[in-house]
Amino acid sequence: MNTTQIEALIKQMTRMEKIGQMTQITTSFFNVDGAKATGTASRMKDVEQHKWIVGSVLGKLDAKSMLRIQRDYLQHNRLGIPLLFMTDVVHGYKTIFPVPLALSCSWNPDVLRRTARVSAVEAAAAGFQVTFSPMVDLVRDPRWGRVMESFGEDRLLLGQFGAAMVEGYQTDDLQQSDTLAACVKHFAGYGAAEGGKDYNTVDLSPLSLYNDYLPPYQQALQAGARLMMAAFNTLNGVPATANTWLLQHILREQWGFDGTLISDWGAVKELIPHGVAASSADAARLSLQAGIEIEMMTTAYIEALPELCEQHPELEQKLDEAVKHILQLKQELGLFDDPYRGVSEAREQEMILHPNHRHAAREAAVQSMVLLKNQQVLPLNSTQKLALIGPYADNRHLLGPWSVDGDPQHAVTVLEGLQQQGMQVQSLSTDDSHIEEEVLHQAIELIQQSDVILLALGEREEWSGEAGSRAHIGLPHDQLKLLRIAAAAGKPIVVVLFAGRPIELEEVARYADAILLAWFPGTEGGHAVADIVTGRCNPSGRLTMSFPYHSGQIPVHYNHLNTGRPAHLLTQEKRYKTQYLDVPNEALYPFGYGLGYSEFGYGNIDAGTGELSANCPLHVSISVTNHGPYAGCETVQVYIHDRVAEIARPVRELIAYEQIQLNPGETAQVDYTISADMLGYYHTDLQYRADPGEFELIIGPDSRHGSSVTIRLLSNET
Ligand code: IFM
Repeated sequence: MNTTQIEALIKQMTRMEKIGQMTQITTSFFNVDGAKATGTASRMKDVEQHKWIVGSVLGKLDAKSMLRIQRDYLQHNRLGIPLLFMTDVVHGYKTIFPVPLALSCSWNPDVLRRTARVSAVEAAAAGFQVTFSPMVDLVRDPRWGRVMESFGEDRLLLGQFGAAMVEGYQTDDLQQSDTLAACVKHFAGYGAAEGGKDYNTVDLSPLSLYNDYLPPYQQALQAGARLMMAAFNTLNGVPATANTWLLQHILREQWGFDGTLISDWGAVKELIPHGVAASSADAARLSLQAGIEIEMMTTAYIEALPELCEQHPELEQKLDEAVKHILQLKQELGLFDDPYRGVSEAREQEMILHPNHRHAAREAAVQSMVLLKNQQVLPLNSTQKLALIGPYADNRHLLGPWSVDGDPQHAVTVLEGLQQQGMQVQSLSTDDSHIEEEVLHQAIELIQQSDVILLALGEREEWSGEAGSRAHIGLPHDQLKLLRIAAAAGKPIVVVLFAGRPIELEEVARYADAILLAWFPGTEGGHAVADIVTGRCNPSGRLTMSFPYHSGQIPVHYNHLNTGRPAHLLTQEKRYKTQYLDVPNEALYPFGYGLGYSEFGYGNIDAGTGELSANCPLHVSISVTNHGPYAGCETVQVYIHDRVAEIARPVRELIAYEQIQLNPGETAQVDYTISADMLGYYHTDLQYRADPGEFELIIGPDSRHGSSVTIRLLSNET
């Protein structure tokens, strides 16, 4: 079907049929096994009568149900327009990968691309056509439970990893039956919810939006994403769902987005409690005018648009535009040619949890884990007797939030992983919050018989994710008590930490000899932990979100501004400078940080003349040597600081990075091309350009260390 045919089809549609296309309900309305009518679904009984005209569904599905629903639907739908199936494949469908924040710690777009590809192959085989992913909300507040879905605090990484996931889901040809259309979310600024409380107010200056928050969404769209989801929050007072400036001016006019715009779950009617709509009709009108084309899981459009369009005929054009985008999406996915998209139970069975997919999940988990501390304890060897203790010692709940279709029964536990690699290990599982005295005694006994203590600690899965905000981001009291008791034995302690957010680790760092951050590592988590602690793999993950000493420091992120009284410059001044009196300014573990089993040494930066201009980039290089006994991967990071600019610029800002693999004793030269564009930012006129003048260029292993040179941008005119 081409554009002309789509337009002809729209002409045949009744107003109600158009509004139906613009409404999304859950698969629970089509009796899918395991699909529950939760939240607004339980209050949407009236929609039953319209279910043969709704344009799309979200939620649980499998190949058998998809084939049945689509067949029934096409029999009932007057114009034979196929139904669209959407879902949240966020970090895997059945084969679950590490949570996105963990994946981002690989600093490797290929890992993200591959994750998305595998996810698409599995989910498309089960009948899905769209995923609500990637989420590219910039995050600086670990109290917010949804940081686990983000790629962290840096806009460059967010944009690159979001784009990589879009490419993995969609490939070059969305017509292929093993692809998913990607829906970028949540537009915009959802990650800046005040106080880290979910759904909370967001206030961001235009400069902050343009420089930090908006670029990742744009980059993911430039990779070809076909949908965008509006955020739940208000942005500078106006809910994103009704925010014409955001959805029309930025998204459609400035960025030229020609895909489909969907609301978040229930967000259209939430305009009423937001206090900008008096009724469903008001909410429908505001959302439609702002450009929301699919209303997810409320029925303001169905209830109010027929009459509203009667009263305001000019709104009809909005319906036509929206339906055009929706039908175009169906066409791009090949649904008019094959409404079933080649789905079969046989294909589904073959693809789900395919050994290659599990292999990819194991590799991704290894590359996502971050070694935060290691005082010559890791890697372990098979002659050592290990005491594996804690809530995650032998626990399959390693998938993490937003793994809606994953089954923990398929997950490999840490104990299983270690046993399969021939380690001598005895384990003791404990509760995560209330560890009985008797269990602590058992722990002590086990520790006495062992050489090394492995504590598998962390958050419970549901403590992060949507609506998983926490004011205290430390480990539960009883887990710390277990740690202290273990420390009293005087044996080496390795903490393996499972979490969906940065955790306060000051006390853990005090007692543990080694800390391996495993995040929520997914189906192959236990294997991946074993791969690292046994030395089968050399850890290479680097943090993409700072770990504070204390939640009172939040927001703590590497790319902050200097202020007029920077503490690091005013060393003689005791009080009147930017600091806390009781906790450090810096993060405990900064952005970009992570250890491995190798030691990498950096040479001097060679920046040639140090001068560049708009037409003539600067070539910079540095040599890096592996001084350690293991082959390893180093992520060589390049930051800049614009010394004098029109607006205050971050103390450091990541502009490039390169991953290199080096054998013991090997040296490599790492080259970068620095263009004027990479030095730019949005000015007060909201135009992007770089300021001629001096910049500090820093190359190093993380955002805190490295050596620097001065470079000079001579001119920004081409
Ligand atoms: O995609 C999600 C979104 O991130 C949060 N609300 C529900 C949507 C659909 O499940």
